[in-house]
Amino acid sequence: KTIAIVGCPFSGGQPKAGVDEGPIHLVEAGLPEQLKALGWNVRFDGHHQFEEINAKLGNDPAAGIVRDPPIGKLKNPRLVSEVTKSVAEAVGSHAKQGELPLTLGGDHSLAMGTISGTLSAYPDAGVIWVDAHADINTEETTDTGNIHGMPVAFLLGITQQPASYGASEAPFSWIKPMLTPERIVYIGLRDVDVGEKAILKKHGIKAFSMHEVDRYGIGRVVEMALEWVNKGYGPGGRPIHLSFDVDALDPTVAPSTGTPVRGGLTFREGHYICESIYETGNLVALDLMEVNPSLADAAAVKQTVAVGCSLVRAALGETLL
Ligand code: ARG
Ligand code: MN
Ligand code: MN
Ligand code: MN
Repeated sequence: KTIAIVGCPFSGGQPKAGVDEGPIHLVEAGLPEQLKALGWNVRFDGHHQFEEINAKLGNDPAAGIVRDPPIGKLKNPRLVSEVTKSVAEAVGSHAKQGELPLTLGGDHSLAMGTISGTLSAYPDAGVIWVDAHADINTEETTDTGNIHGMPVAFLLGITQQPASYGASEAPFSWIKPMLTPERIVYIGLRDVDVGEKAILKKHGIKAFSMHEVDRYGIGRVVEMALEWVNKGYGPGGRPIHLSFDVDALDPTVAPSTGTPVRGGLTFREGHYICESIYETGNLVALDLMEVNPSLADAAAVKQTVAVGCSLVRAALGETLL
């Protein structure tokens, strides 16, 4: 079985520099070799550079030139749209070849691409979204305009497309919303905006916040999360896409990230989620997002990158015994 590493040094879904270095650090820390040691064939054809996209938009990120004015409240809409579209194609083509795409971010707006790619190969797939945040803001509810806080709304088709509020071109019109509210489940939430809470309620979206992790324990939470996404599906369960935002972990465990929130998952709780999803045998795609090596001192960066590699190994079959 083959893992296809899709390295996405991309930060356009949020304002802090450095998250684009995340995938480079994860690969340099030896993640491809670690996965080979677990028995996987590993395919990694270098990080995606998105050069054509910047050229097309007239951007020169190295010179600080980004010609992508906001549309409504959305920041960098054309860039994020084009990049996530190309990620969807990359992830989709790996998945269709029977490879398991492992996308290394980069900010979490990339999940519009990764999950769209997964759904193009596995239309029935369910999503387990592990995060401190729900990332389900719409153009109406977003306070920040940062698209990394909005990918789930685009995937569900519950945010307005920019075209509908007067933009001439239509970023994100490539997204065919193929995800449905009962096929996503959250674990780890603790910083959900007021508008997002209303959206979760309105659509009946299942979420296990840190409160439920405290109440039931992580073992029961993962069991209930899998039961929820698999409800009504045939024996064996759905294909699963795991989208793991490293800020789901407590900042004492994973400090180098752009929007840390205290009160998060322990090292073991994070790993337990990954191990359990591996054990289902249904994992078809994996994201590790929001590692930002420029936030925190060298020791904290090293720790965060090591934890990131370790989570990925746990999701791909590393066991304690
Ligand atoms: N809810 C906030 C926003 O909309 C924070 C989102 C943080 N997202 C993330 N992928 N780290 O901006
Ligand atoms: Mn590739
Ligand atoms: Mn987050
Ligand atoms: Mn996130």
